[in-house]
Amino acid sequence: MKTLLSVAGAVVALFLTLAMFGTAGWDRPPLVTSQNGYRGTAMAQVETRADAREVKAANQAPEPAAPAEPGDDLAGKTYENVKVLQNLTTNEFNRLMVSMTEWVSPEQGCTYCHNTENMADDSLYQKRVARRMLQMTQHINATWKEKHVHEAGVTCYTCHRGQPVPANIWFTDPGPQARSGFIPRNNGQNLAKESVGLSSLPYDTLTEFLGQKAIDNNVIRVNATTALPEGKGKPIQDAEKTYGLMMHMSQGLGVNCTYCHNTRAISNWGESTPQRVSAWHGIRMVRDLNGDYMEPLQSTFPRNRLGALGDVPKINCTTCHNGVNKPLNGAHVVEAYPSLTKSTEIAATGPAPAAPDGGGAAPTAVPATPAPATPAPAPAAPAPQPPAPKP
Ligand code: HEC
Ligand code: HEC
Ligand code: HEC
Ligand code: HEC
Repeated sequence: MKTLLSVAGAVVALFLTLAMFGTAGWDRPPLVTSQNGYRGTAMAQVETRADAREVKAANQAPEPAAPAEPGDDLAGKTYENVKVLQNLTTNEFNRLMVSMTEWVSPEQGCTYCHNTENMADDSLYQKRVARRMLQMTQHINATWKEKHVHEAGVTCYTCHRGQPVPANIWFTDPGPQARSGFIPRNNGQNLAKESVGLSSLPYDTLTEFLGQKAIDNNVIRVNATTALPEGKGKPIQDAEKTYGLMMHMSQGLGVNCTYCHNTRAISNWGESTPQRVSAWHGIRMVRDLNGDYMEPLQSTFPRNRLGALGDVPKINCTTCHNGVNKPLNGAHVVEAYPSLTKSTEIAATGPAPAAPDGGGAAPTAVPATPAPATPAPAPAAPAPQPPAPKP
């Protein structure tokens, strides 16, 4: 019997092997490789051509609206209840309302935010949220221009893509209801969450690393900075959380780890790419947006828009990036909308929320490890402080 089975198995294997050569689908798909690190460091991004095309096609910026007719009257005077866009001409204001509708609620139209009986009425939560969103967009394009969004900038479309609720938002994850019973404490693991690339890494690294502004600047760092331990280092669980966040960042931007790191020296800024510096600021920007703009909207959102723990919907890298290294393929979307690049409130009503300094103390110290001579990092490289050893 045993011999018979072995022979039968061998015959089947032989046929399958022959079939493999004779049928289609066994060719390697055509690949595109782009080298983004220093030569010889193997820091390349590899994609199939089809994937690259698909991602490019899915991230097209819409045409901007035709410029507004010139005019002198200001929206703040023409209309009754304009609090953020006061300084725009009425024509410019109306153009922006039309574009906002296309960006956020093309199907629902003006009525998604307005009671059409009285446009000045603020009773719909959508309008009150949108007013804060206007301030947030202006804040991103003004305060984070140099450090992150550059000339490209963002509009409502960068996140919304023609939908009232952006495709990529997140809530704090309370995890499974496991107060008692088998393995109640799982260190947040073994759930294959989307936010960590369906791995079994801790499932709620976003709250810990991107949730709010007051997060410790060194919390993501886990590498030792000395050859021998000089105190109690961070536990392995912390490294798992860091990896969880890195999975999110890689997926959100559609890149692999070597887009930012030279994997022979992950933590070394001198051997990292300039993109890692952008990412460093991106992390601070997301904390700032969640802390100062999303969090305060908690009482504005209706209950059904909040998470399981009653928390607001929040922003992460994917909200803007949607799987590409530069949102909307790097299009300079804000160029045609100068009103979204600065505060348009008239000073008397109070300035826009205080501009943060970039989220937490900007790193000033020199890198702990001397940077090698060749790969000069961007001058703005955040020189990281070594993680404070835990007592
Ligand atoms: C995504 C939400 C949103 C959509 C869609 C929208 N608006 Fe608005 N609209 C607002 C917000 C927010 C304000 C208040 C702006 C401010 O305070 O600076 C406003 C204010 C206005 C005002 C001023 C009313 C007043 O007297 O104070 C007019 C007029 C207006 N919108 C027209 C329109 C028209 C027309 C459309 C459709 C083409 C439209 N809006 C679509 C959010 C929206
Ligand atoms: C950085 C990303 C980002 C940008 C830029 C952005 N939004 Fe939002 N917006 C969000 C997130 C996240 C939410 C919360 C999603 C939800 O409501 O569940 C949201 C919610 C909203 C809502 C409420 C939708 C609902 O029904 O709950 C409106 C209206 C809105 N945004 C309008 C705007 C307008 C208008 C602009 C441009 C002036 C804008 N947003 C720019 C991320 C963004
Ligand atoms: C888009 C850029 C980017 C990508 C992609 C990326 N990282 Fe990171 N990584 C960073 C930044 C920025 C930091 C520093 C964060 C901080 O200090 O707040 C960091 C920190 C780390 C650290 C901690 C280093 C230390 O000093 O202790 C590890 C480990 C790490 N990354 C691993 C990875 C792995 C593994 C991947 C791929 C799954 C990855 N990273 C992908 C930007 C990136
Ligand atoms: C508010 C929208 C927004 C959010 C949120 C955001 N980014 Fe960006 N990011 C941008 C824009 C816009 C650019 C393009 C800037 C340019 O063209 O120079 C960019 C560029 C980058 C780049 C440079 C890409 C390159 O190829 O040069 C990196 C790296 C990056 N972002 C990382 C991140 C990470 C990591 C996060 C999350 C922690 C994040 N971003 C969150 C808008 C955003």
